[in-house]
Amino acid sequence: MASVSLCPLHHTILPKHSFPCFNPQFQACLSAFSSRSPFRIRASSAVATEPVTSTQQNNAFEFEVFACPVCYEPLIRKGPPGLNLPAIYRSGFQCQRCNKKYSSRDIYLDLTVIAGTKEYTEFKPARTELFRSPLVSFLYERGWRQNFNRSGFPGPDEEFKMALEYFKPAEGGLLVDVSCGSGLFSRKFAESGTYSGVIALDFSENMLRQCYDFIKKDDNILNSNIALVRADVSRLPFSSGTVDAVHAGAALHCWPSPSNAVAEITRILRSGGIFVGTTFLAPRFGDSFRSEIYRNLRQLASNGYGYLTEKEIEDLCISCGLINYTSKVQQSFIMFSAQKA
Ligand SMILES: C[S@@+](CC[C@H](N)C(=O)[O-])C[C@H]1O[C@@H](n2cnc3c(N)ncnc32)[C@H](O)[C@@H]1O
Repeated sequence: MASVSLCPLHHTILPKHSFPCFNPQFQACLSAFSSRSPFRIRASSAVATEPVTSTQQNNAFEFEVFACPVCYEPLIRKGPPGLNLPAIYRSGFQCQRCNKKYSSRDIYLDLTVIAGTKEYTEFKPARTELFRSPLVSFLYERGWRQNFNRSGFPGPDEEFKMALEYFKPAEGGLLVDVSCGSGLFSRKFAESGTYSGVIALDFSENMLRQCYDFIKKDDNILNSNIALVRADVSRLPFSSGTVDAVHAGAALHCWPSPSNAVAEITRILRSGGIFVGTTFLAPRFGDSFRSEIYRNLRQLASNGYGYLTEKEIEDLCISCGLINYTSKVQQSFIMFSAQKA
């Protein structure tokens, strides 16, 4: 019997990963989406910009921008092509090397290593777990994020403008908004129409649900080339060298291992691709920041977050092989950018 699920995109019941689609209402919606986005996504390594024929739309087994988080092999998709919410929701994905299967849960595609596990439970550090809470996800754009201004964050509109400048060499390419939270910036990137596709990616299921709740209120964004993906920044579900731009707003201090994360971001960027991040800086006391006492004090004062100094962020980017590092600082706020060699 075909598995049946409630489609949160259209509040209808539909069979998943089975063809043909027996739900005329959803089919109509899907056709509307497909006719608006007749081009496949341009990820620089897997470029395919030809119009999609109706045969392809009905029976698509194609190479993906998404890769298996276990073996980094590109996934094979069974379902409608395209980087938009209905196409991805309707599709099943499988790794051609390890055969692991991935599919959408709720409204996001789950590309974590633990996708599909039944018994295994893993607890991340508190700075990751905190944002998985439904309450924090709900409050995030309803006051929580506005508080950052007190530490020097210029605010989403200005931060977005600054990021767009850094991302100029990546225009027209695939942008991944890593640790997107409730999609504050993913929505702006998608709405700008500047990129061939935007992937809003976070580890928090509730942030992604909140992101979808915001997206569905705006037809322009709902109809854009945007995907919602659950993944761990330390294990990004993309093949090496396939992404043009990575944005990570207010995120580095929340990651369990910034070094693993920056290494992963570097791995997925194509040569010339751009990484832009913002975070809160750790306080500095003269040049003593390498001393053990300072490190201990810093850890005590960090509230469980992993704040880095400006020099540490630059050092980390350089040690991962990124070049052309540049940054702007305002109180504790830093926006930095670096490029894949
Ligand atoms: C402070 S929010 C930033 C949201 C948004 N980018 C912004 O600029 O406001 C930090 C985000 O990092 C995400 N995060 C924490 N650990 C993560 C991990 N291991 N992998 C991916 N995302 C993670 C959290 O779920 C949270 O949504």
